[in-house]
Amino acid sequence: MDEAGGQPYGHGDASFRAAGGETGLRALVDNFFDRMGSDPRFKTIYDMHPDDLDVSRDKLARFLCGWLGGPKLFSQKYGSISIPRAHQHLPITAVERDQWLACMRESVAEQAFPAEFKVYLMEALYVPAEGVRKRIERLAGQGHEPVEG
Ligand code: HEM
Repeated sequence: MDEAGGQPYGHGDASFRAAGGETGLRALVDNFFDRMGSDPRFKTIYDMHPDDLDVSRDKLARFLCGWLGGPKLFSQKYGSISIPRAHQHLPITAVERDQWLACMRESVAEQAFPAEFKVYLMEALYVPAEGVRKRIERLAGQGHEPVEG
């Protein structure tokens, strides 16, 4: 249940509201990319991103709004998206997946979200992160090597 005793996370917009709506998610995403850019533990995944991170920040924040049951801000601006497909050109293995999740976990920990929502969110994010890794592994098995850039 969310903190107001309403719908459980994952239903309706309960998760979006627990995250503080678009404002809360933009703050999370800014923290995430600031951390990725300043902590050498995340250098491998940081270096995969374009130099100008403004669009990356906007895309991830908008995606998370819709994914958590809020307004579909990503598709409104950028069109439809498949998370595994959007990453299939990148060299992402379990190492890079875990870097991404660790960076996100540390940023989530610093937000004023309900404690149980933080746990829910990190468990939920594992699913698309692992989906990315699996797709790249499958394509590599078919002889399609990911090309960075
Ligand atoms: C598994 C570890 C992950 C890594 C290393 C990673 C890394 C990246 C990188 C480098 C880009 C920029 C790609 C480019 O401009 O060529 C990107 C884009 C993006 N990522 Fe991830 N990502 C990961 C997981 C995720 C997850 C789990 C989500 C969603 C919950 C996500 C959402 C996005 C979105 C929405 C974009 C923008 C895609 C677009 O350009 O249309 N990523 N990611």
